[in-house]
Amino acid sequence: MATDRIINSESENEQEADNEKSLRPKFLKEYIGQAALKQELSVYIKAAKQREEALDHVLLYGPPGLGKTTLAFVIANELQVNIRTTSGPAIEKSGDLLSVLNDLQPGDVLFIDEIHRLPRVVEETLYSAMEDFFVDIIVGQGPTAHPIHFPLPPFTLIGATTRAGLLSAPLRDRFGILASLNYYEESDLQDIVQRSATVLHTKVTESAAQEIALRSRGTPRVANRLLKRVRDFAEVAQQTTIDRDLAKQALDQLQVDQAGLDQVDRRLLTMMIDLYEGGPVGLKTIAANIGEDVETVETMYEPFLLQQGFLKRTSRGRMVTKKAYTHLHRALPTTD
Ligand code: ADE
Repeated sequence: MATDRIINSESENEQEADNEKSLRPKFLKEYIGQAALKQELSVYIKAAKQREEALDHVLLYGPPGLGKTTLAFVIANELQVNIRTTSGPAIEKSGDLLSVLNDLQPGDVLFIDEIHRLPRVVEETLYSAMEDFFVDIIVGQGPTAHPIHFPLPPFTLIGATTRAGLLSAPLRDRFGILASLNYYEESDLQDIVQRSATVLHTKVTESAAQEIALRSRGTPRVANRLLKRVRDFAEVAQQTTIDRDLAKQALDQLQVDQAGLDQVDRRLLTMMIDLYEGGPVGLKTIAANIGEDVETVETMYEPFLLQQGFLKRTSRGRMVTKKAYTHLHRALPTTD
């Protein structure tokens, strides 16, 4: 992995998934942040349990790293059911979907990550599975082709996507619970850092946890990653407690700044200023200039820069804001 990357691609995320598992909360009461969503989910979970029914299907959407997978596991734990996990690109054919669905017990959770990447035929098979708990699969070809009807147990589909807008309307409409995850408050991230430090048997002072939180771009995955890197610095320096000085030093070395921007974020903004006088610039041009693909820019970099007010969207493209010029110590363009 390039050293300048603080956020990373989905395949890198998978490699890290095992690593992250131990840091994940198992129940809603341990899950920090997203208070309104937790409150809402706890009601739906309780009601489903009281009725002894499967929970309605849930769509979790929001930027990467905010805990969609974690929340799916938390929901299954709270429901006291099994969870099976897969992802949109992993299910190539309707038969693949059927084999996953076939393994479910009544009330179980099926988690499909990156659900916006399900092939269209599979998506269509999913409609009847979600709505009426059956699938009809065509077997054979030509004149021998015939549908076979497979009844399914009632189950809960939890779909996760970074791109709710890419989901087709018929699929979106079949989710009874639409849950959007937002960037975390700094105080929540600070609590997450403290909780993770305990899990990792590491001591972190309050101000060090705050420093890490401040630079975590509102994202628990980033907070946990930064904590682990800072812990490496502490161990090499033979320091038993991570204090603010050490955290600052380590984070400066990682080139994550006080606004949580990493080298790619800063390169993106600087490029727009230097080559395009701050914009407007189209997404494809931005991606090409910083050597990333459009989807990466759109899902991983842009949402945080927009949310923090470093970038704005206009009908003619993206523009760098005054806040970005100030943050990067650049003179504002003169209007002539
Ligand atoms: N680890 C990662 N995300 C978390 C969260 N939301 N609450 C507690 N621990 C976490």
